[in-house]
Amino acid sequence: MSRVLTGIQSSGHPHLGNLLGAIRPALQLADAQAEPAFLFIADLHALTTIHSPHQLRENTYAVAAAWLAMGLNPHRHVFFRQSDVPEVCELTWYLGCLTPYPMLANAHSFKEKSTHLSKVSAGLFTYPVLMAADILLYQADLVPVGKDQKQHLEITRDIANAFNRVYGEIFRLPEPVFQEETMVLPGIDGRKMSKSYGNTLEPLGDLEELYRQVRRIVTDSTPVDAPKDPEKCTIFKLYSVLAPPDAVEEMRQRYLRGGYGYGQAKEALYEVLRTSFATERQAYHQWRADPAGLEAILREGAEKAREEAQKTLQLVRQAVGLSASSSVVKT
Ligand code: TYM
Repeated sequence: MSRVLTGIQSSGHPHLGNLLGAIRPALQLADAQAEPAFLFIADLHALTTIHSPHQLRENTYAVAAAWLAMGLNPHRHVFFRQSDVPEVCELTWYLGCLTPYPMLANAHSFKEKSTHLSKVSAGLFTYPVLMAADILLYQADLVPVGKDQKQHLEITRDIANAFNRVYGEIFRLPEPVFQEETMVLPGIDGRKMSKSYGNTLEPLGDLEELYRQVRRIVTDSTPVDAPKDPEKCTIFKLYSVLAPPDAVEEMRQRYLRGGYGYGQAKEALYEVLRTSFATERQAYHQWRADPAGLEAILREGAEKAREEAQKTLQLVRQAVGLSASSSVVKT
């Protein structure tokens, strides 16, 4: 029996990279196991970038609605908001005390993000420790993620190993599960699709906005008549993860023959985005209109998640030499 776990930050609205790189493969993997999976919205992680309370709440509901619209069954799996389980912050402290400073200072994602920001917070620095706590708290076996999270998973395993060496075998070692074809989905500017780059496609959102996003995909200046290299084109890359194989092959041939413009390729991409997410888009809009329904589901999930979290935390507190429970016992 394997326990699947994954999370998505509520740092923006869910984008194609999240849907294809994380939510869809995570649900496939989760539904294939006998054991319920732990699937959550990483709103504490989102606090490293979002400082508007309204925006954070709004994003959290958007990500929750996306999980449900993509088919998550909240009665079968444990679906919750990270911040509803405060135990994760306590575990972050214990793990942080065993995490070598250089490991965090050299992490790609920290180095990359910190060079773009004028202010670099301690939260951004310790981000991977909170992520390790997310995974280890629930004793996850399999963590489906996009390739951009590879190093975070390595850090998690390093921290778990360090803890187990010092205090005994407390944590299971999680394995990352990567999705091959959508390993790192490009955004509309050709870099990795990411909320922080503002280069996303949001297939569950408003269709007019989706159309505008597709039209803004950056291409080179090869004239319509000239043959084009499909492998170097973002439109083609995105099309090829969404469209059926024969349609992808047809587009490839059109690129190679010439006489096919990027504008036409964009229309084809928009069409496949519009149609292949039609059912999910409708469900997404229904969930967005029902915050009370979302709250009820998330609260139920948090109760189940907390039970599991408290079991692990009790073992950890005992192992490190603290009292087994965090509640003060009155005498
Ligand atoms: P986040 O919120 O940036 O992304 C959520 C998931 O979507 C995947 N993803 C992509 N996949 C393919 N192509 C892309 N362009 C793309 N962009 C995002 C990510 O790989 C990820 O799987 N730190 C995590 C959230 C997190 C988490 C966890 C994940 C917090 N705790 C515990 C797993 C386990 C993050 O920032 O993901």
